[in-house]
Amino acid sequence: MKLVKVKGHEEMSEFAANYILDKVKSNCQVKLGLATGGTPVRTYEMLIEDFRRNYTSYQNVSTYNLDEYVGIAPDDPNSYHSFMFKHLFDYINIPREKVYIPNGLSADIHQEASNYEYIIDQIGGVDLQLLGIGENGHIGFNEPGTPFDTETHIVTLTESTRRANSRYFESVDKVPEKAITMGIASILKSKEILLLASGESKAEAIYQMFTGESSIDCPASVLKNHPNAVVVADEKAVSKLIATMSMSHS
Ligand code: PGA
Repeated sequence: MKLVKVKGHEEMSEFAANYILDKVKSNCQVKLGLATGGTPVRTYEMLIEDFRRNYTSYQNVSTYNLDEYVGIAPDDPNSYHSFMFKHLFDYINIPREKVYIPNGLSADIHQEASNYEYIIDQIGGVDLQLLGIGENGHIGFNEPGTPFDTETHIVTLTESTRRANSRYFESVDKVPEKAITMGIASILKSKEILLLASGESKAEAIYQMFTGESSIDCPASVLKNHPNAVVVADEKAVSKLIATMSMSHS
């Protein structure tokens, strides 16, 4: 697991956008695993800016999102479907049928989870998975305690995650209690992983991720077991890790 330290959110986003663009330009059929949340929004804006300027084509690209809330329709403004269209897909030339996001309103949600995993297996895992990290170290919606061999499944969100995500809803009670998410095993099938972290609220999770053994208490620490994982973290997100390292060297 490689750590790339950057100054702030803007530099992190620039790094991620260039990384993704390199993949798209070198393989027009690249299979991208995408994430929602505040962290990748600026990265997506940069992809849109590039599309407008250079017309980098997504005609043959396919995308696979990490997760979706259970119980809300794809066209609900708070769904992750809506998020992805609003922040990226509406502005680039990706065909609708090449966008894969779990359907949180499926009549058989457990079947939906196995179907989603089947899709990931059919493509042999995504080529590049973009990840954020939760304040509690979660990746996708895999909360602490999730076994590392879990595939796409239904989760009950922790209070801390619902509180963190309540900024998008009228109130915390409106945040769905369940979600469908790629599991840790699904994420590990990716050929490459790029995890982004920005801001002080991520400092504890980044510290936990890099210190000690990988442990289900910090799901992101599983990336230590992946041969091709890069973590791009800004100064605030690495602050606790750096402070601890400099203390142990003094
Ligand atoms: P954020 O969420 O990008 O909104 O901080 C990341 C996550 O919870 O994985």
